[in-house]
Amino acid sequence: MYPEDQTAMQDTAATTARAKSVIAACKGVTKTYQQGSIEVQALRGVDLEIHARDFATLAGPSGSGKTTLLNMIGGLDRPTSGTVIVDGQDLGELSQADLAEMRLRKIGFVFQSYNLIPVLSAAENIEFILRLAGVPAAERHERAYAALKEVGLEGLESRRPSHLSGGQQQRVAVARALVSRPAIVLADEPTANLDTRTAEGLIDLMAELNETRGITFLMGTHDARVIARSRRHLEMTDGRITADEHR
Ligand SMILES: Nc1ncnc2c1ncn2[C@@H]1O[C@H](COP(=O)(O)OP(=O)(O)OP(=O)(O)O)[C@@H](O)[C@H]1O
Ligand SMILES: [Mg+2]
Repeated sequence: MYPEDQTAMQDTAATTARAKSVIAACKGVTKTYQQGSIEVQALRGVDLEIHARDFATLAGPSGSGKTTLLNMIGGLDRPTSGTVIVDGQDLGELSQADLAEMRLRKIGFVFQSYNLIPVLSAAENIEFILRLAGVPAAERHERAYAALKEVGLEGLESRRPSHLSGGQQQRVAVARALVSRPAIVLADEPTANLDTRTAEGLIDLMAELNETRGITFLMGTHDARVIARSRRHLEMTDGRITADEHR
């Protein structure tokens, strides 16, 4: 092999490795909501790359577009223009059904309000997601219990959400977000309803999952405690990313 060829190959390998490490990308993403006769420009052109193993926070004033952006990356809503790519897939090319499938398999969600199903136990809430994802029954139970153990809820598997504390419910939500082994976990104000101690426990848990299992997190938050722990911090102002700080 000629040295030039070798260099070219190494360059290609490096480019591929770099390209691979992008888990989610937004290119020129805009979102305009129509409220009666008024147009609200929630996103005004967002360019962003989230990399594998990022533990990133997204802050900014109320109404700056954080939730809208998380919804775009999570495939919960479609942009007005621009491209969103998650795990190499352009979400704009997917049908509604394929997008739903993508959400189940590739994206984990943690919301402020936990969004657990009240009539199901902690384990059943997780088994339900696995069932939707087509995981065989025999495997579902085991994976749900393992996920709950991982977030420190061993012994509480059969409790319903109403018999769990807020912090415990949010841990169930984290377990549920992780159980399908997603490419990225999106969290929108995950600590907003938690007291300080409980919130800190949740941040510790997410940081540990990021460090030990390499799970990628993007968290919309106002919470200084969460921001202080992140390794990448993004700021949004008026529908645009106005700061992107690695630390
Ligand atoms: N479904 C909707 N219909 C119309 N306007 C919307 C809708 N969702 C959001 N908006 C508007 O889009 C803008 C961005 O909202 P978004 O919820 O993304 O902000 P945010 O940064 O998450 O705010 P907060 O910190 O309060 O959660 C706001 O002006 C909001 O009023
Ligand atoms: Mg929001």
